Amino acid sequence: MNTPATPADELQTILQSAYASSAGNTSGALADYIPELAKVVPDSFGLAIASATGSLCAVGDAEVPFTIQSVSKAFTYCMAIELAGREAVLARVGVEPSGDAFNAIEFDPHTRRPFNPMVNAGAITVAGILYDRLGDGAFDAVLDRFSRAAGRRLDMDEAVYSSESATGHRNRAISHLLLATGAVTNRVEPIVDLYFRQCSIRVTAVDLAWMGATLAHMGENPATQDQVFDLRAVRDTQTVMFTCGMYDYSGNWAFDVGIPAKSGVGGGLVGVVNRQLGIGAYSPRLDAKGNSVRGVAAFSALSDELGLHAF
Ligand code: DON
Repeated sequence: MNTPATPADELQTILQSAYASSAGNTSGALADYIPELAKVVPDSFGLAIASATGSLCAVGDAEVPFTIQSVSKAFTYCMAIELAGREAVLARVGVEPSGDAFNAIEFDPHTRRPFNPMVNAGAITVAGILYDRLGDGAFDAVLDRFSRAAGRRLDMDEAVYSSESATGHRNRAISHLLLATGAVTNRVEPIVDLYFRQCSIRVTAVDLAWMGATLAHMGENPATQDQVFDLRAVRDTQTVMFTCGMYDYSGNWAFDVGIPAKSGVGGGLVGVVNRQLGIGAYSPRLDAKGNSVRGVAAFSALSDELGLHAF
């Protein structure tokens, strides 16, 4: 990897060229299974890179807000490991790629646990672990931690939250199955509500870049010097992002781009280049797997140009 030697102006030029080479791709469709998500401007596109030394470059619609959706799963997993310990979390949710869609109603046939924390079943289990520890204060704790990772106060999009809560029957069904298998041990409704709320937190590509940089920089936000996450939990989080962060595209992603990442149906994508960079992308047109079309293209270009692949 050559990023430490890459000066900020050169990084900005490379970011601009990744933007330019991906911007023309207008394929893909907005997520519309949550009605409110279909109301965003379809052709918004923003990219941002934050470095572990505290510098930022951005291009396009990098300050346009959108809901974090499944990108939240990486960060709540990190919190759960810190709060409950890795063994307790591992006992309830696995770390094996599922090869299934994000909303699959599928558990590991051997352990009956959700396959991993990056699919809905696993993320709802993680929400259950946070709710067990923090009760009704869980959402405020999540919002606070995400805000510290982003380096500014974030908020929740009420309209998306209401829309998701009104239509999230599949997630409620998954929650009840988790209760039946013992992965979730508490009342289902506050747990699934926490999950809907965490998905509705509003961020920008710049926020995602800083959140990624906080993971890259061993849990410390490099701009604010706030130690947001515990280092051991950061290692586990990055590992699961690497193997499972892009749903049933995770193998292709590891092969092509080669960095830990997490996508969301709001069109956000965060990447972590360990010890070096956080990368945030926003473009809401999604491919068939639920990943941002231009986000994936831009990350692929950046990985090639900057030599980011782990191997
Ligand atoms: O579970 C859901 O339906 C959403 N709130 C989050 C899903 C998501 O972002 C999956 N991403 N590709």
